[in-house]
Amino acid sequence: MSTFSAPRGTYDLIPPDSAAFLAVREALAAGPRRAGYGYVETPGFEHVELFSRGVGESTDIVTKEMYTLTTKGGTHLALRPEGTASVLRAALQANLHRAGGLPVKLWYSGTYYRYERPQAGRYRHFSQVGAEAIGAEDPALDAELVILAADAYRSLGLTGVRLLLNSLGDPECRPAYRAALQEFLRGLDLDPDTLARVEINPLRVLDDKRESVQRQLVGAPLMRDHLCQACKEYHEGVRELLRAEGVAFEDDPRLVRGLDYYTRTTFEFVHDGLGAQSAVGGGGRYDGLSELIGGPPLPSVGWALGVDRTVLALRAEGVDPALPPGTRVFAVPLGEEARRALFTVVTELRRAGVPADFSFGGRGVKAAMKAANRSGARYAVVAGERDLAEGVVQVKDLDSGDQSPCPLDTVVAELRARLS
Ligand code: HAM
Repeated sequence: MSTFSAPRGTYDLIPPDSAAFLAVREALAAGPRRAGYGYVETPGFEHVELFSRGVGESTDIVTKEMYTLTTKGGTHLALRPEGTASVLRAALQANLHRAGGLPVKLWYSGTYYRYERPQAGRYRHFSQVGAEAIGAEDPALDAELVILAADAYRSLGLTGVRLLLNSLGDPECRPAYRAALQEFLRGLDLDPDTLARVEINPLRVLDDKRESVQRQLVGAPLMRDHLCQACKEYHEGVRELLRAEGVAFEDDPRLVRGLDYYTRTTFEFVHDGLGAQSAVGGGGRYDGLSELIGGPPLPSVGWALGVDRTVLALRAEGVDPALPPGTRVFAVPLGEEARRALFTVVTELRRAGVPADFSFGGRGVKAAMKAANRSGARYAVVAGERDLAEGVVQVKDLDSGDQSPCPLDTVVAELRARLS
């Protein structure tokens, strides 16, 4: 191999595409930031047990997809495959749940790692923006989160995102449903691996994508028909709030998620332009997770939205996210004296908040003007010895081609005014 390339299932974010990625990340985070969620950042790796206990011993994420390592000191660590367990751990460790009122509302943005079979939209290193509301049981909190996510997709200009909604019950009603489902599944014609799954995690069988399995699942008992009164009322409360706020959703009684911690509300945002990896975001309630990882009872709810897949969804719809302004002014100095004068102009423009760039490396005027055009700037500021002798620089409008002299000592104010 003559050069290195990025590992399988990963990709580099580089200009110009990286600008859209950044804009998407900001748009997804804007909702929680406006809704009282505080920023949290946790390590990229954690003790393996946090995820095996939190996400679930029998999930694909833990059994097949976790990047684990043993340190020189013998500690077993895992690169984080998701954010919820880490964020809850951090909140518990810092006693945030005792510091003030509940819920503790946190948002985060980071990269996550899963050793999955790479394909379009499925990577081994990917980005999420997440939000978690810890320590409160209130249908309005579930609705708040769902609405924030739905509004984020809409703010980006996406029209093809669908919201799937389900309730997975609670420790009161799920055991009886689980038993009924197992009873049904044991009677089917399934391969040994799937039969083993029936015993460990029967709900996951509902999520089996194979046609041969799906065909047999017609008539399988559904959680919806086994919810206890409290879960039924809770779920109806969430649905009512979503309807009242005009957020469209589809009831999907077969929606199960790939992580074991969910109770009651679960949801997924899907986009039909993405092929098999259609989930652009997902989440739900996880009322028992805190106790699973050693904390007090803290009913909680949250979501994580996939940045990579949201970018792909925008591309599928042909929508360009609004980007913050790039370079607005590009300086083209002709000669050493002009380089010093225009370097000062560029520095002052930047200090005044105007994105500006400079022709570095002493190239000729032709190459420098080409760079100015490529930069996307609206104005080029050009100066040579003769201009400076007269105390002026040339301001060229790169859109119209018009050029006029401007006094050197007022050019920053002039450009600011023209660009505002
Ligand atoms: P998740 O459904 O595993 O949930 O992931 C959330 C989103 O991350 C997915 O909908 C998808 O957009 C993106 N994603 C997941 N895996 C990949 C991958 N291999 N490549 C690209 N994108 C991917 C969670 O992670 C939960 N922690 C969500 C949550 C928060 N539940 C409660 N709070």
